[in-house]
Amino acid sequence: MQKRIPALLLFSLLFYCCNSPKKNTSSSFDPYHYTGSKKVIAENGAVVSAHPLASKVGVEIMKAGGNAIDAAIATQLALAVVYPNAGNLGGGGFMVARMSDGKTFTLDYREMAPGKAHRDMYIDPDGKVRNDKSEDGHLASGVPGTVSGLLAANQYARLPFEKLVQPAIDLAEKGFVISKREASSLNGLQEELKKFNTVMPVFVKATPWKEGDTLVQKDLANTLKRIQKNREAGFYEGETANLIVEEMKRGGGIITLEDLKNYKAKFREPHSFDYKGYRIISMPMPSSGGLLLQQMLKMIEDKNIAAMGFHSVQAVQLMTEVERRAFADRGEYMGDPDHYKVPVDMLTNDVYLQERMKDYDPAKATPSVLVKPGRLPKAESEETTHLSVIDKNGNTVSVTTTLNNSYGSRTVVGGAGFFLNDEMDDFSIKPGVPNMYGAIGGEANSIRPGKRMLSSMTPTLVLKDNKPFIVIGTPGGTTIPTQVFQTLVNILEFNMNTDDAVYKPRFHHQWLPDQLDVEKNFPVTVIDALKKMGYSINNRGTFGRLEIIKVLPNGKFEAVADNRGDDAAEGY
Ligand code: GLY
Repeated sequence: MQKRIPALLLFSLLFYCCNSPKKNTSSSFDPYHYTGSKKVIAENGAVVSAHPLASKVGVEIMKAGGNAIDAAIATQLALAVVYPNAGNLGGGGFMVARMSDGKTFTLDYREMAPGKAHRDMYIDPDGKVRNDKSEDGHLASGVPGTVSGLLAANQYARLPFEKLVQPAIDLAEKGFVISKREASSLNGLQEELKKFNTVMPVFVKATPWKEGDTLVQKDLANTLKRIQKNREAGFYEGETANLIVEEMKRGGGIITLEDLKNYKAKFREPHSFDYKGYRIISMPMPSSGGLLLQQMLKMIEDKNIAAMGFHSVQAVQLMTEVERRAFADRGEYMGDPDHYKVPVDMLTNDVYLQERMKDYDPAKATPSVLVKPGRLPKAESEETTHLSVIDKNGNTVSVTTTLNNSYGSRTVVGGAGFFLNDEMDDFSIKPGVPNMYGAIGGEANSIRPGKRMLSSMTPTLVLKDNKPFIVIGTPGGTTIPTQVFQTLVNILEFNMNTDDAVYKPRFHHQWLPDQLDVEKNFPVTVIDALKKMGYSINNRGTFGRLEIIKVLPNGKFEAVADNRGDDAAEGY
């Protein structure tokens, strides 16, 4: 029997059909009415990312026959549209993957210093360091790597690349509804956008953005279409490349057509090690993430931290001292391995790491030598983004990608619709001078044409009994390796459930500045005890947006998105 539709409802439906933007025809979800979940348990595949729509795109691609790599590519392209703070075409990133046949690989699509870059390019003739130039506007950008990276990853995917780009094109062309957090973020950006752009981008608006507004990005959709049609040449050559170079000329940047044409993502051997029976697979140089993670885990391995207890004064103090020592090595020894010989074997040698802990005193803080005041991180300055994916065959992918600052250099390529990175600030622009994260460096991470700047991104996989167990990663600048370290310790040592392991307050020490950063809600009793031991405590709002998937004993996937943002887990 046919149901009768009440007149008022019929009127409402007609009104809605005629006045609401058209739903994307290629998607089963509605970008104008959607919600996100913080946690899902799934059997066939799961994606966790910074945005509900991007996670939905990833799952949809798997349902359409794609594997975890397909999903990771499509999710990242969708993030370039729905999460312009960090999802990107104009930035770079790292991918760590393990295929179901046991093959592992990492992809380095980190940005690269342009050919005209030089060691002292951010130092004035009078010796003054110009952090503004390395962080803001055209001169702050390295040559973008994301498009090259995603296309290189495509050889492990199942679906044609064209299909993986389509959801991002739809989201850019037909728009999506923004959240309260996104509206507020765009409103906070208006003055900087006006200052650092030569052509006003769609993000600039005469009246404030509000929750429920639809963001349409036509220029970005056209750029994505060029990539869909011509692949690398759709970005690194032709119209997109010309638009980037014209933008550079208008704003005093130095990226050339030749720089763009020469850019190539690189496959690298993963940085892998064992920890108490688990196999950890992470990112090698030019990210310091995997090496720092190994140093930190190895320095606590013989300490029975489980018996100390989660957030006990003893455990926090031990982990702080370990973080301090690892970061001291970062500043001195780590950089792009194609330009600087990083002594990885020495830095991860067991005897060396035991030696590093010789002066560890469980009763007091070990002062950081050469203490120089670091600049405090800017609010919202750590806008990298992470996505974790698993599929039903056990392919696992961990991707962290970034523009560096929130919205990168805040410069949008005129006519091309995407933000450019400010990744040049991740180089050591002058030995001993802190970058925006307060991190210092020297020769290992100095600027050279064609060199990739040192990163902290730590996309990581953990195997148990040689099978996928954890897919993990987070944004957060220099706090990335310490967040991954702490979350792994929470699960592997303190046996915490996944939600608690992610949601409980974090802490961070990076050697210099000599201070312990703690998130809000960090236990006051622990803070007081640490102060008495000589620690200088720096209260910070929150850091990171960690995305994790854990394989449960029954083989199901537990996907948990961080509650520090709009992040969402999807699965099926
Ligand atoms: N831009 C932050 C990082 O790569 O560590």
